[in-house]
Amino acid sequence: MAPGAARCVLPALLALLGALLPGGEFPLVRGWDPSTQQSILDPGFAGAQISVTPPEAIIPRGGSVTVNCSASCAELGLEIELSKKEVAQGVNWKTFELSDVREDISPICYANCPNQTESSVSITVYGFPDLVELEPLPSWQPVGQNLTLSCQVVGGAPRDNLTVVLLRGEEELSRQPAVGEPALVNHTVEARREDHGANFSCRAELDLRSRGLGLFQNSSAPRQLRTYVLPDTNLSLSAPRVVEAGTQVLVECVLGGLFPASEAQVHLALEDHRLNATITYNGDSLVARAPMQGLAGEEGTQQLVCVVTLGDRDLRTREKVTIYSFPAPKLTLSQPEVSEGTLVSVECEAHSPAVVTLHGAPARRPSERDQILLNASAEDNERIFSCLATLEVAGQMVHKNQTRELRVLYGPRLDKRDCSGNWTWPEGSKQTVNCQAWGNPTPKLTCSRKDGALLPIGTQMLVKREIAGTYLCRAESSHGKVTREVVVNVIYHQNNVVIIILVAAVIILGTVGTAAYIYNRRRKIQIYELQKKAQEAAALKLNALASPP
Ligand SMILES: *[C@@H]1O[C@H](CO)[C@@H](O)[C@H](O)[C@H]1NC(C)=O
Ligand SMILES: *[C@@H]1O[C@H](CO)[C@@H](O)[C@H](O)[C@H]1NC(C)=O
Ligand SMILES: *[C@@H]1O[C@H](CO)[C@@H](O)[C@H](O)[C@H]1NC(C)=O
Ligand SMILES: *[C@@H]1O[C@H](CO)[C@@H](O)[C@H](O)[C@H]1NC(C)=O
Ligand SMILES: *[C@@H]1O[C@H](CO)[C@@H](O)[C@H](O)[C@H]1NC(C)=O
Ligand SMILES: *[C@@H]1O[C@H](CO)[C@@H](O)[C@H](O)[C@H]1NC(C)=O
Ligand SMILES: *[C@@H]1O[C@H](CO)[C@@H](O)[C@H](O)[C@H]1NC(C)=O
Ligand SMILES: *[C@@H]1O[C@H](CO)[C@@H](O)[C@H](O)[C@H]1NC(C)=O
Ligand SMILES: *[C@@H]1O[C@H](CO)[C@@H](O)[C@H](O)[C@H]1NC(C)=O
Ligand SMILES: *[C@@H]1O[C@H](CO)[C@@H](O)[C@H](O)[C@H]1NC(C)=O
Ligand SMILES: *[C@@H]1O[C@H](CO)[C@@H](O)[C@H](O)[C@H]1NC(C)=O
Ligand SMILES: *[C@@H]1O[C@H](CO)[C@@H](O)[C@H](O)[C@H]1NC(C)=O
Repeated sequence: MAPGAARCVLPALLALLGALLPGGEFPLVRGWDPSTQQSILDPGFAGAQISVTPPEAIIPRGGSVTVNCSASCAELGLEIELSKKEVAQGVNWKTFELSDVREDISPICYANCPNQTESSVSITVYGFPDLVELEPLPSWQPVGQNLTLSCQVVGGAPRDNLTVVLLRGEEELSRQPAVGEPALVNHTVEARREDHGANFSCRAELDLRSRGLGLFQNSSAPRQLRTYVLPDTNLSLSAPRVVEAGTQVLVECVLGGLFPASEAQVHLALEDHRLNATITYNGDSLVARAPMQGLAGEEGTQQLVCVVTLGDRDLRTREKVTIYSFPAPKLTLSQPEVSEGTLVSVECEAHSPAVVTLHGAPARRPSERDQILLNASAEDNERIFSCLATLEVAGQMVHKNQTRELRVLYGPRLDKRDCSGNWTWPEGSKQTVNCQAWGNPTPKLTCSRKDGALLPIGTQMLVKREIAGTYLCRAESSHGKVTREVVVNVIYHQNNVVIIILVAAVIILGTVGTAAYIYNRRRKIQIYELQKKAQEAAALKLNALASPP
């Protein structure tokens, strides 16, 4: 405390003591002697009268104030360290103007009448803060962690009436007096999700309403907070562990429970080759998908990395991906098309270290090469040979498959079981000639009788008596010709009833006709004989008449 200030305060204190202690007046104290550690007491205390107006004042910093000292005598003055100007005076009073007042002062009015007496004025200076500033916030604040808001207030007076308010948006978080120069006011809040994007600020409030002035507010510029959640766990990266060179696979990086998901950045890379990821945000999770090319010439184990960046942190996860090249096995047939009975060699070969399994070959220790030798038969026509090559890549088995089809030329063939060749069918029934000629190429089959009649094959027909006979079936292809004789028998029944009726009718008609003829003839004979007898009688009569005796 400055000695000047002590001089002001001590007399006031002692005056107060004098007023409180019973039965006595205390002599007015003129000052404090630091060498003797004793108060310098005013010898002429009693009787003198002094007054000062105004007894107290509040003025803006750098402003001026007029003080009027009046006493019971004319010998008076104003004790002050500042420059003062006497602006007016009368009998027993003087008016002083104090200008450019920069800090609180308490000038003392004194008078020597003849004993010295004095009275002080309290002049308070007020000023708005020169600076109200919220300290910068962290660029990103993890949710759930404490955030200390710190507000700096430079200047501003009187400090007793200066309050610092910390705000989140319009919400008051804390209200504290401004202490110190500069005043630093702190408040700790736990960052929440909803604080993401919130504007924090602080405000200095100079409340001079009790002094007849107003409430003055100065606010800091707002600072926007960004909060985030980046869970340490469950970042997952899924990708095939082995990728064939020259192929493309899809890799996926998934992270859940992050906030604000849409502000997260994802970096997916295979070694230092960045992948073109498409990021899908869904609520609090994100999925980044990217096509990944297994580049030829870059075979070997590579690192696939997924980095999710949010706020000032990042999460990363790695996977090993092995790029391999695996040419398909070479499956060769000595001839793709052979005649029946020819030896065919089927050979499969892979590039080392792949091994092959030739389907149909006897079980052997897997090797780079395998072979089958076979005598092509009709059954081998259209047989598909497959060769499976297997390669071990990073502990995983990968396969490749190659197939070839064998074509065997055979036939034509027309066996008894293909064309039984002896059919006995009742006349009038419906039948199908089931004859099948086999062969590759497919033979053409015709069955014809000596007279040139053809037997329809494979279609239903009505059996007639006329089709009976021996046919020669001929199966023919570019590979050869075979024939086979078939017999068609037709069973038919004679209709006896009709014949009997016809025969009976003939007999009856014959009998009746004969009988009628015989009867007629007899009658004609009788008539003739009667006529003959009559003629003979007449002739006798004539003879008798003509020849007289
Ligand atoms: C002034 O002081 C003297 C001695 O200290 C005293 O005797 C006298 O009465 C005082 N005068 C007045 C007017 O108080
Ligand atoms: C100063 O005070 C005295 C006594 O109260 C008064 O008579 C005088 O007018 C005042 N002077 C001014 C300039 O107000
Ligand atoms: C945050 O601060 C409060 C008091 O201000 C304290 O109780 C709490 O433990 C702090 N939390 C953390 C995570 O530091
Ligand atoms: C301002 O300060 C003065 C002096 O300390 C005090 O008496 C008054 O109550 C204060 N006013 C407010 C509004 O704080
Ligand atoms: C506020 O924090 C600052 C450091 O950041 C410190 O210097 C100051 O004393 C603190 N103020 C209060 C009132 O705690
Ligand atoms: C914070 O302030 C910025 C600009 O100053 C404004 O765009 C944004 O909407 C404010 N945020 C809130 C939550 O009011
Ligand atoms: C502080 O606020 C007052 C009124 O409330 C204004 O006149 C003054 O210019 C402000 N000061 C600053 C530094 O903004
Ligand atoms: C990630 O973890 C958080 C909690 O740690 C959980 O709520 C969320 O469901 C998890 N997400 C996934 C995709 O597992
Ligand atoms: C990345 O993918 C997008 C769409 O999936 C496509 O339009 C773009 O050309 C790709 N960029 C590169 C460098 O491949
Ligand atoms: C193939 O098999 C047929 C009949 O089974 C036989 O006649 C022929 O001699 C065989 N051919 C060879 C080259 O072994
Ligand atoms: C080989 O390929 C053929 C046809 O492409 C397929 O039917 C067969 O199942 C495959 N074999 C293996 C073992 O993959
Ligand atoms: C045809 O079959 C019948 C009996 O079903 C038999 O009697 C006849 O001898 C066979 N004919 C030929 C040429 O096989």
